[in-house]
Amino acid sequence: MKLLGLLLLSVLCCANAFNITKILDAYPDYSVFNDDLTRTKLADEINSRQTITVLVVNNAAMASLSGMDLAAIKRALSLHVVLDFYDPEKLHQVTNGTTLSTTLYQTTGAAAGNGGFINITDLKGGKVGFGLAGHGAKLDSTYVKSVKQDGYNLSVVEVSQPITTSVAEAPTPSPSNMNITSVLIKGGCKIFADLITTTGVLKSYEDSIQGGLTVFAPRDNAFTGVTNKMLTKLSSEDKVAVLEFHALTIYSPLGTLKTSNGPIATMASTGAGKYVLTVTSSGDTVMLNTGINKATITSSLLDDQPLALFSVDKVLKPKELFVAAPAPAPTPEAETPEATVPAKAKHGKSPAASEASKSTSTSFAPATAKVCTGLLAFMVGCVAVFML
Ligand SMILES: *[C@@H]1O[C@H](CO)[C@@H](O)[C@H](O)[C@H]1NC(C)=O
Ligand SMILES: *[C@@H]1O[C@H](CO)[C@@H](O)[C@H](O)[C@H]1NC(C)=O
Ligand SMILES: *[C@@H]1O[C@H](CO)[C@@H](O)[C@H](O)[C@H]1NC(C)=O
Ligand SMILES: *[C@@H]1O[C@H](CO)[C@@H](O)[C@H](O)[C@H]1NC(C)=O
Ligand SMILES: *[C@@H]1O[C@H](CO)[C@@H](O)[C@H](O)[C@H]1NC(C)=O
Repeated sequence: MKLLGLLLLSVLCCANAFNITKILDAYPDYSVFNDDLTRTKLADEINSRQTITVLVVNNAAMASLSGMDLAAIKRALSLHVVLDFYDPEKLHQVTNGTTLSTTLYQTTGAAAGNGGFINITDLKGGKVGFGLAGHGAKLDSTYVKSVKQDGYNLSVVEVSQPITTSVAEAPTPSPSNMNITSVLIKGGCKIFADLITTTGVLKSYEDSIQGGLTVFAPRDNAFTGVTNKMLTKLSSEDKVAVLEFHALTIYSPLGTLKTSNGPIATMASTGAGKYVLTVTSSGDTVMLNTGINKATITSSLLDDQPLALFSVDKVLKPKELFVAAPAPAPTPEAETPEATVPAKAKHGKSPAASEASKSTSTSFAPATAKVCTGLLAFMVGCVAVFML
């Protein structure tokens, strides 16, 4: 248990190792790039990674992306986040003079083939060129200067212009015309897709897309006999609350979930602290905690700003409608016998709720940082002892 706590802390520790927004705030020349990282939530994605190189572009060169919608800018900028560490020295000493490197764009599932890789080539005369991977790639974007290096974890270098604007072209259909149920069915969440359709919750989801929507859809095998029995006991109003509990009315891609702390309001939230979820993560595993049960995100079915669809391994049970089993089940994987709350919880909607709970626990970070420093000292101490 203690070890688990330590592990958890060390994960928190490294997840918050740097803050790209804060780093770039010191450079007014990159303010457009920095704003776009925040608006597209790529900043969270960057902050939740361990080893990363960000290829920044100055304000003048960012003009070529102006006028694009946010989703397009996100696709273009994702190519500027390289999942490897390249300081100026390494850039100028690429093995054989050329290499392909993975970018964040490759991880979105939107890139066809190796469309999410960039080509880094040591050009003649000490110049380094960047371009899309692929035959006869143009290397129009070139290295300008080093901006910041943080150990061997984060490197920020300036390049002369956006690597390409061609990936920015919107895929069809656009997120607002996306057929959510068909994506869910393809992703193995047919029961959930049917539930949101028959209850009309799908309409609430669709109405939210424009302002941002994140859905955690339980996979078909999450609807076990016990769970189904409990769901059928609910009134139709409460069933709607449970289904709305599986969605956030904000766009929250994986990186944003990983860096979030404190309770997150769901579509079912009726006030601060009501129908909220907390997120914990460890490496690439992201878990949602309802206070009654925990579900793990099993895959990202779609991530195209402003819409994110995930599948999860359990039905999320809000503490407002379910109670936890008093005794732990003897077999680890057995479904614990839970019961619905007899007292009827009032359900209604209030948009102010999400604002209220968003600002709850920002004071968490400094405390963690302090513990982390202590932990780091402790670990260094351990290593020192082992080396003796
Ligand atoms: C860099 O990452 C390592 C783990 O890969 C971590 O232990 C270390 O604290 C990080 N350093 C900084 C400065 O973020
Ligand atoms: C990162 O820094 C920015 C600007 O200093 C701040 O607004 C933001 O809250 C910070 N993010 C985190 C996760 O600490
Ligand atoms: C570098 O080039 C040599 C000779 O063409 C080849 O054998 C080797 O695999 C290359 N190394 C890398 C890392 O591409
Ligand atoms: C990178 O692009 C250049 C120019 O198009 C090409 O010659 C080189 O082979 C590419 N490098 C890799 C690793 O594909
Ligand atoms: C969305 O997909 C589902 C399942 O494939 C289908 O039944 C439904 O008619 C589609 N809805 C629209 C609006 O096309």
